Amino acid sequence: MRAVVVESDRPASVREIEQEFLGTGDVLVDVAWSSLNYKDGMALAGDPGVARTLPLVPGIDLVGTVATSASPAVSPGDLVVLNGAGVGESRHGGFAERAVVDAGSLVLVPEGVSARQAAAIGTAGFTAMLSVLRLERDVRPGDGEVVVTGAAGGVGSVAIALLSRLGYSVTASSGRVDELGGYLRGLGATTVVDRSELAEAGRPVQRARWAGGIDSVGSTTLASVLAQTRWGGTVTACGLAQGADLPTSVLPFILRAVSLAGVNSVDAPVELRREAWARLATDLDLDLLDSMTTEVGLSEVVELGPRIVAGSVRGRTVVDVRR
Ligand SMILES: NC(=O)c1ccc[n+]([C@@H]2O[C@H](COP(=O)([O-])OP(=O)(O)OC[C@H]3O[C@@H](n4cnc5c(N)ncnc54)[C@H](OP(=O)(O)O)[C@@H]3O)[C@@H](O)[C@H]2O)c1
Repeated sequence: MRAVVVESDRPASVREIEQEFLGTGDVLVDVAWSSLNYKDGMALAGDPGVARTLPLVPGIDLVGTVATSASPAVSPGDLVVLNGAGVGESRHGGFAERAVVDAGSLVLVPEGVSARQAAAIGTAGFTAMLSVLRLERDVRPGDGEVVVTGAAGGVGSVAIALLSRLGYSVTASSGRVDELGGYLRGLGATTVVDRSELAEAGRPVQRARWAGGIDSVGSTTLASVLAQTRWGGTVTACGLAQGADLPTSVLPFILRAVSLAGVNSVDAPVELRREAWARLATDLDLDLLDSMTTEVGLSEVVELGPRIVAGSVRGRTVVDVRR
């Protein structure tokens, strides 16, 4: 079968592998689709923070049909989706025509969502949904403006689409306002701001602008969002596209009762995975999802890796692993 393989002594490339290469696990999946996430860009570059073992088939998402199963959780013929849980990091992932995985984190693709759309949602969309699930515990539509950072990226794009469909008023913060302002408004953002407004280091408490926020950028941007969140608001943090630092102080928390809520998709328990996927099936406008999706073949994914890490990929990219 064909697979993208990252090795210690040469750049990532498409090559033929035998099934034994994939190792052992409960379930063999005939993979139809994968997707490209920021983390996949890091793995394709051999970054040891993601590619924890080499050689490695990257791809933190996979969608396909169960071929054989040693687990009662899934049966041959089931259409399943797997996001994270170590695939494409510490074990082989979705950039191959087959995958051997453990059943524990598999979710059945919900009715009404195609295999391609499930891959387009992927880890980025799943994480956006986890962020919304966390945000809506504290912030309701009508409470005020919610800001989404890294807006034109995968997490940001799906978060905007979800929030606007749920009735929130959304401000999109992006470094590509001129190029992609229309795209972001089309996803449902009511206001688009240049990310430079939030990227500068500033005072830890500033004029309150946001009822809440969904951040995938980290660093001074997240610090600014916290500084500008009003009393009792909640900001979710899932990413580090700008940086892993967080230059703030306790002041937003003790003067404004702001909450900072961490979001992690990789190790999410299966009940939360099922809840998030059920909500994605009902709350995400699939036509909007299609409009933010670009399709590539397995051989094209290698050259796209540096582009997603550089922040120049828009929305979501699905990978047809048979092409
Ligand atoms: N915790 C988890 O489980 C989890 C799950 C998924 C993703 N993540 C993380 O979330 C982040 C986003 O993932 P993604 O798949 O959405 O990536 P992506 O598609 O590359 O989107 C990232 C976006 O961040 C913005 N950005 C990039 N560099 C920036 C910089 N220097 N300063 C400010 N903004 C910058 C860009 O948006 P604009 O062009 O609009 O400015 C870019 O499109 C990554 O750090 C990823 O590792 C974490």
